[in-house]
Amino acid sequence: MSLPSELTMQGGGPLRGTLVLPGDKSISHRSLLFAALSGGTSRVRGLLRSGDVHATMGAVVACGAVVEDGDELLVHGPEVMGEPADVVDCGNSGTSMRLLCGVFAAREGHVVLTGDHSLRRRPMGRVVHPLRRMGARIDGREGGKLAPLAIRGGVLEAARHDLSIASAQVKSALLLAGLGAGVHVREPRTSRDHSERFLRAMGASLHLDEAGWLHLEGGQALHAIDVEVPADVSSAAFPLVAASLIEGSEVVLPGVGLNPTRTGVIDALRRMGADIEVVDRDDTGVEPRGTLVVRSTRLKGCRIDGDLALRSLDELPVLSVAAAFAEGETVIADAEELRVKESDRIARVATGLRAMGVEVEEKPDGMVIQGGRPSGPARIDASGDHRIAMSFAVAAMASDAEVTIGAADAVASSWPSFYDAMRSLQATS
Ligand code: S3P
Repeated sequence: MSLPSELTMQGGGPLRGTLVLPGDKSISHRSLLFAALSGGTSRVRGLLRSGDVHATMGAVVACGAVVEDGDELLVHGPEVMGEPADVVDCGNSGTSMRLLCGVFAAREGHVVLTGDHSLRRRPMGRVVHPLRRMGARIDGREGGKLAPLAIRGGVLEAARHDLSIASAQVKSALLLAGLGAGVHVREPRTSRDHSERFLRAMGASLHLDEAGWLHLEGGQALHAIDVEVPADVSSAAFPLVAASLIEGSEVVLPGVGLNPTRTGVIDALRRMGADIEVVDRDDTGVEPRGTLVVRSTRLKGCRIDGDLALRSLDELPVLSVAAAFAEGETVIADAEELRVKESDRIARVATGLRAMGVEVEEKPDGMVIQGGRPSGPARIDASGDHRIAMSFAVAAMASDAEVTIGAADAVASSWPSFYDAMRSLQATS
C-alpha cells in the first residue's frame, strides 16, 4: 500500500456507517511472540497487518518460527528459538524491541536489536537495567540506555522487581525473561495485562498477590494457543472522537477489544459527554470484546489523570483533539510517559493545536487545553509518530480548516489504511 508522505485534509460531512477496524496491535505482537515460544502450532485470526507487527514477525521468523499466512495465520514455533543470522530491525516499534529484549536475554545466542530514528531515541534502560539484575548481558549506547542493543543471551537468575514506572512493555519483557528462572514483578499502577492473559491461557502458573506482586514460577512450558485478535480500541479512538465531534454522525465499530486496562478512552470520552454505547458484549474469550456505537454530541472539557490517564495513554493525543473542540477547559495530568513515546507527544500535540489557534499550556506531565473552534490553515509534523498523524487528521476532519500533515505515512505503524477507512465513513453519508 502506498501512502503519501504529505497529506492535506479538510472537514467534510457527517460520518456514517460501519467500520471494521484493524486488529489490536499489543495483542498481535504477543500472539506472534508467545506462539513462537510455545514450540507448537498456534492459530491466529484477525492479526494486525502493519509495520510494527511486521517487525515482530520478522524477529520470530529469524529465530526459526514458520508462519503460514492466509485468512488466518498458523505459527509453528521452533523447538528452541535460534540465533538470528542478522541484526533484528524493530523499525518504529517499542513493543517489539522491549519484549524481544526479554526473550533474547534468556536464550543462548548473540542478537543486535535496532530501530528507526524515533526508536533509537527511546529509553531502553528501563528494560536493560532490571534484566541485568537477572544476569542478562546487554550492551547499548550510553551504557545500555539507547538502542542499538547487543544481547549475549544465556541462563538467567530469578529476581524481584519493584518497578517505578507502570509499563506493560517492561513488565512483559521481565515475564518473558523469567519463563525459565522465575520472576516477581510489581508495578506502581496496573498497566495493560495482555501478557498475563496469554501466559495463563497457555498454561503458565502466574499469581497476583494482594500486595500487587505478580509471581511467575520458573520452568514454565507454554502450550500452543488459538487466538482471536479483537479490533484495536486504540484505533477505535480516532473514529470515536471524529464521530463525536462531527454533527450528524453515527458510526458502528464491531468486535472492539474491551480489556479494562485499555478502555480509558471510552471512559474519558463519556466523562466529556460523548454518546458511546456498547452492544453485543462478549466476555467468553481471553480478551473481552464488543461493538461500539458512537453518535455525535456536544463535548465538554474534563480532567484526565491518575489511572484514567494510564488507561488512555496512547489515546491522549486524540483526546486532546477532542478537548480542543469541547466546551471549557480540559486538564491532562500524570501522563509524563507521553514524552517518551514515538515522539514527545505533549510537545507535538501542544505545537499542533497551537498552530490551529488553540490555547494550550504545556506541563511536565500533561497539558491544559482551552476548548473552542480550532481553525487553520496549519501544518503538522507527524514524523515517526502514527498517532500524531491520525490525531491531526481527525482535527482536520472536524474543522473547516485545511490541515497539512507532514510524514502522513507514519500511520503504517498501526493502521496502514487509516485515511481510506476514515474517508469511507464520509462517503457513505
Ligand atoms: C504497549 C504498552 C504501552 C503502550 C504501547 C504498547 C504494549 O506502553 O503505550 O503503545 O503493547 O505493551 P508502556 O510500556 O509504556 O505501558
